Amino acid sequence: MAEDLQLAEGSKTDQYQSLMPQIRALVEGETDRVANLANIAAALRQQFGWLWVGFYLVKDGELVVGPFQGPVACTRIAPGRGVCGTSWVEKRTLIVPDVEKFPGHIACSSLSRSEIVVPIFDGGEVVGVLDADSAAFNEFDGVDQRWLEELAADWEKWGE
Ligand code: SME
Repeated sequence: MAEDLQLAEGSKTDQYQSLMPQIRALVEGETDRVANLANIAAALRQQFGWLWVGFYLVKDGELVVGPFQGPVACTRIAPGRGVCGTSWVEKRTLIVPDVEKFPGHIACSSLSRSEIVVPIFDGGEVVGVLDADSAAFNEFDGVDQRWLEELAADWEKWGE
């Protein structure tokens, strides 16, 4: 397992291209899902310095917060609520350039300005979401969407 993350500089694409194989190496051979989700959140935060990044997992009809890095967050989100709950029920990535303009946005931190939420699928069903929040407006774009969706597609390799 790679225990030291090599942080990349350069464009967003450069940073994802450096980070993705390191994340794959980090989780390879580890079968504990919580351990892997925790390290993935940490790796993303270390590379990009986002305010908050982590996972909400579907449990008993709600999203329940999972491993994350950043300030304490709301524990449970109902379907259709906030950016996370909307991404879940609409089964698509949402990029929010200004969270105050997203109706129903759940402000876990007053410092959050923009957000991306990527649904995680298993057998066509959403089993969770990957959520990232930034203290800057307009942080996330199609580059983040492309790489984070590719990352989320590895769900089945992250253990049980
Ligand atoms: N802002 C999210 C809630 C989760 S926190 O940002 C960590 C939302 O509106 O769903």
